[in-house]
Amino acid sequence: MKQIIAGNWKMNNCAEGIEAYAKALRHAPLRAEMIICPPFPLLAPLHAALAGSLIKLGAQDCHSVAAGPHTGDVAATMLAAAGASHVIVGHSERRTDHHETNALVRAKAEAAQQAGVIPIICVGETEAQRDAGHAAAAILAQLAGSLPATLPYIIAYEPIWAIGTGKTPTLDDIAAIHATIRDATSPTSHILYGGSVKPANAAAILALPHVNGALVGGASLTAADLLAIAIHAT
Ligand code: PGA
Repeated sequence: MKQIIAGNWKMNNCAEGIEAYAKALRHAPLRAEMIICPPFPLLAPLHAALAGSLIKLGAQDCHSVAAGPHTGDVAATMLAAAGASHVIVGHSERRTDHHETNALVRAKAEAAQQAGVIPIICVGETEAQRDAGHAAAAILAQLAGSLPATLPYIIAYEPIWAIGTGKTPTLDDIAAIHATIRDATSPTSHILYGGSVKPANAAAILALPHVNGALVGGASLTAADLLAIAIHAT
């Protein structure tokens, strides 16, 4: 399966401005499928800047229902209307900041599917869980609670302690968790690795079995860094 490189800008703008960022990606020879996930207000302008390219657009969250009295929230149908084909759900920052449960993450993923938007469902263990030898069990429990009954979805394995820290699990540890996730899910869904993916470690991580791409935070804020990661995708 073709690898996916997804960029998660989080609550940041890209470093060079949307037009320059989109231009750099548009002209790059890419093997990977690329998905850029900006904050909500930047979806429409980035969609316009990427028009005519193969680069896809993703959001970073959606509500679990299609419309209604939910001040400050955004429905998946609205994301689709703004040009998004994908949406990240259950990122650990949302699970922590907004107390999102597995059941809510699953409901959001299902709402995305109903809107024709593919959910990128994040799971990952804490450092304490890893140190206690419970990483795989923690992830299996999150998968059991968060995955919708049907495809399509993408899974992102993001160890919480590796996000934004510059720390990553060993290659063997990444491979082991990806194999565990593969055994627990469909043979066709992509399983992305996320957590301090950088140009310097991308080649080794993307070469691992059952690593079907990367979810990239900090290094997605400049097109040059994201492309230096994507160049290693197959
Ligand atoms: P990072 O973030 O690449 O900055 O570690 C990854 C993520 O949270 O998606």
